[in-house]
Amino acid sequence: MTASSESSLSPAVDPLNGHDVRRDFPVLDQQINGNRLAFLDSAASAQRPRPVLEAIAAYEERDHANVHRGVHTLSHRATEAYESARKKVRRFVNAASEREIVFTRGTTEAINLVAATLSQSWTSGDEIIVTELEHHANIVPWQMLADQHGFRLRVLPINNRGELLVEQLPDLINDRTRLLCLAHVSNALGTINPVTECVAMARARNVRTLIDGAQAVPHMPVDVRAVDCDFYAFSGHKMYGPTGIGVLYGRESLMQSLPPWQGGGDMILTVSFSGTTFNELPYRFEAGTPNIAGAIGLGAAIDYLESIGMANVATRESALLKYATDKLTELPGLRLIGTAANKTSVLSFTVEGTHPHDLGTILDHQGVAIRTGHHCAMPVMEHFNIAGTARASLGIYNTTDDIDQLYKGLTKALEMLR
Ligand SMILES: Cc1ncc(COP(=O)(O)O)c(C=O)c1O
Repeated sequence: MTASSESSLSPAVDPLNGHDVRRDFPVLDQQINGNRLAFLDSAASAQRPRPVLEAIAAYEERDHANVHRGVHTLSHRATEAYESARKKVRRFVNAASEREIVFTRGTTEAINLVAATLSQSWTSGDEIIVTELEHHANIVPWQMLADQHGFRLRVLPINNRGELLVEQLPDLINDRTRLLCLAHVSNALGTINPVTECVAMARARNVRTLIDGAQAVPHMPVDVRAVDCDFYAFSGHKMYGPTGIGVLYGRESLMQSLPPWQGGGDMILTVSFSGTTFNELPYRFEAGTPNIAGAIGLGAAIDYLESIGMANVATRESALLKYATDKLTELPGLRLIGTAANKTSVLSFTVEGTHPHDLGTILDHQGVAIRTGHHCAMPVMEHFNIAGTARASLGIYNTTDDIDQLYKGLTKALEMLR
């Protein structure tokens, strides 16, 4: 990291003051429609710092071969790099063992893996609890499963600030409840949910828990053992790593009891036409050639985040969120959607008399990248009785300059649209 050229938060609230993280991200060094790029769409997918790009290039240029069981040097190197990424993930989320870390394509695949395996011991009439603020990835797999097998979905609602009504959770749990599925952080609202408290309530009643951590791991320290959940899922591309790679953490004792999911190479020990025996954890859940470069890139993203320190990331982003919230709410007619007391990194809003897509398009003309629409959280939109929002989401490279550019862009958009 190099000395800052960007205006920033006051040194009192900015642990990264004096470090220009932005310069570590080559993609940010460009003009969009003749303007400096203000990238405020990290909740959809974050950009990658140079060390991640370099780690992937080094692997592809020097070390590529298939992993596991190879006797030649390149296969040893590829295996070593792939397994070392798993060790970094284990440490990053404080899992007890590497056997608890399964590489997947992303959060979506991790959730589908749990849906397909855990549910095999359930019977018709069993219940799954989801919340009203879940991403579709943590709703649709459960709905599909419920339709196929006669399970029932129950929904923990939110209030008008976008906070879960946690006090209603005990009433939703009964003898048929098998699983509680819960986002750590809402991608549409930024709400940080009290996951540890919810998991404790579920565990007290023998209910399994799955946390969707896609929007938490890039923004705060995560400790799966402190949360005490059974499963925790996240995606590489939201935490400055590559697309197509993600992680399912699963408590070892539970993972041992799950049936295999996809069948193929690497997940077996022996195969014959009289029967097949399956590999140990975590390989039993990694059928076929994995995304080796993706895992290596994810490992480099973890190194990068750890070099900054997740506590510093959280402190900085929370100060920037406050700066952005204060600034944006000065705009007449702007309504923040999601005003939870405990919130991170997301500013979802509507502006009276404008359509979010028009705002997004006019902002793009001024170099500001935000996302507009339902953010794959249509039940949240339904709750607030809106079709969609404009969403600015923060990452570690954002500065007050980005927020000022957003503010200026919105002022211009409002002049044009009203
Ligand atoms: C909270 C949350 N869960 C799940 C997902 C799905 O992640 P992926 O598309 O990487 O599988 C996202 C992506 O936006 C998300 O924000």
